[in-house]
Amino acid sequence: MARKYTILGLIGDGIAHEIVPEAVKVLRALDEVYNLNLEILGPYPFGAKYWLESRRKSSWHPEITRELIYEVDGIFKGPVGLPELLEDVKLNYEVGFLPVNLRSELDLYANIRPCKLRPGVKSPLNGKKPGDIDFVIVRENTEHCLAEATHFGGIRDISGYFERAGKIEFAADVYVQTPKGCKRVIEYAFELAYNRNGAPIDGRKRVTCTCKWGLLRGDTLFKRTFDEVSLKYPDIEADYTWIDGWAYRAIMKPEFYDVVVTPNQYGDIISDLAGAIQGSMGLAAALNAGDDHAFAEATHGSAPDIAGKNIANPLSLILSVGMLLEWMGEKRKDKNLKAAGRQVDRAVDLVLSEGKVRTPDLGGSSTTQQVGDAVVEKIKFAASN
Ligand code: IPM
Ligand code: MG
Repeated sequence: MARKYTILGLIGDGIAHEIVPEAVKVLRALDEVYNLNLEILGPYPFGAKYWLESRRKSSWHPEITRELIYEVDGIFKGPVGLPELLEDVKLNYEVGFLPVNLRSELDLYANIRPCKLRPGVKSPLNGKKPGDIDFVIVRENTEHCLAEATHFGGIRDISGYFERAGKIEFAADVYVQTPKGCKRVIEYAFELAYNRNGAPIDGRKRVTCTCKWGLLRGDTLFKRTFDEVSLKYPDIEADYTWIDGWAYRAIMKPEFYDVVVTPNQYGDIISDLAGAIQGSMGLAAALNAGDDHAFAEATHGSAPDIAGKNIANPLSLILSVGMLLEWMGEKRKDKNLKAAGRQVDRAVDLVLSEGKVRTPDLGGSSTTQQVGDAVVEKIKFAASN
């Protein structure tokens, strides 16, 4: 019998209740077809609602111990957040920053966010065909302005609201960048480019460094580190653009990009832009990866406006879970597991290219469950042929 893999599932808020079961469905189908010997723990309630229900005591289900999140082979989670809590920064450190805390707890320094125009999907960019757009954003995941919530607790003493007589006089957030944090994520980006097929426009392997060097110190450190790391990869083109210019160029010529590496906050913003470019945030997958651990989550939020309507697109999370299996397969040197992960991407493309089953964000009228079922059907069909 092959070794057993344990995957911890965390539900989340809003549409998480609809999309997480679909990701579980896909995992179970892969387990059956590829004999993966997967054990799925949970999925357990997690997020803002759970935190309110536990009377603001804990966001973590009692079954989830600190040891457990280190022990499991992988984690996947649905989006978290309730709109009524969003205004309160203090609460957000408890709730909204849960995914951020998990990133920092497990030291998942690279957030991998592919942007791919898939068959049968229309990009809002005129005239783009599948294959024209295929790049990956590698978002630094533990530093920058989100560092306060993560490794660098002391920064809290500098950041904050400065009040006089109960009134906010000013608010400050500190951006932090470390040589170690820059180096490892930039190396990750170059390794990723090394294993890809290059940019759609010219087939060149290319890594683009984007931030605002020359103006911000942390970004200048990021860029200088990029200069150094790029020397080790002479066959990969080192490309540079300021982050504002990148936003412009990504719309005008997305086919130029292959791998794009950027500090945390810019990565957050441009990955939603990438979600739009690829036709829907409902297709925007993500994997938080470190050297030893990883967790899959969709790039989007809990979408309270469509929650409970059974119309949320589960493909973002399904694709993310595929990325997780591929990552696990690579780490554990298990080709079968890697193949299972890759198959998710193919099955999704088949469903999309047929165009029969799709949620309203992609112009269809299918339910969340119908999309999950269609992916499972493709996985099972591929295995029986
Ligand atoms: C994302 C989200 C999170 C982030 C929020 C919910 C803290 O926007 O994963 O992109 O900023 O990282
Ligand atoms: Mg975001």
